[in-house]
Amino acid sequence: MANPVKRKDFLWMGWGAFAAFLGGAGAATTRFFVPNILYEPSQKFNAGKAEDFPIGVSTLWFKQQRVWIVRSAQGIYALWARCTHLGCTPNWFISEMRFKCPCHGSNYNPAGDVLAGPAPKPLWRCRVEITATGDLVIDKAILENRAGVREKAPFFAEYA
Ligand code: FES
Repeated sequence: MANPVKRKDFLWMGWGAFAAFLGGAGAATTRFFVPNILYEPSQKFNAGKAEDFPIGVSTLWFKQQRVWIVRSAQGIYALWARCTHLGCTPNWFISEMRFKCPCHGSNYNPAGDVLAGPAPKPLWRCRVEITATGDLVIDKAILENRAGVREKAPFFAEYA
């Protein structure tokens, strides 16, 4: 016949279970006070020298940063490559001078305005800045697409 559990061992098992419970509750309480922060890479990046961008639409940072850099005779702006319909990534077609979204057919001109399709509003422009050293710094965390606002700083950098 198996040995019956002694009273003393039974008490120790009880204290062990209680200690495990307290440890778990303490760990859960400690974790509760640690905020749930998602550390993401910065949305700001240095695109290089502004003078290196020729007039027109540049796809240099399209794959890596999902932006097009557009330079005109007056200055530079950056378009976020995210369709304003449901968020797909449009493509630039230089022969047609427009961005076309492969999902539902929205088309945008180089200014970001909707030419066709279901997109409800223009493409977003990112904050741009040309530093004292001539670097073009783009911040995708600060966006604007309202006509009349997007054509001014900080969403448009004058650059001759
Ligand atoms: S997501 Fe671009 S047209 Fe629908």
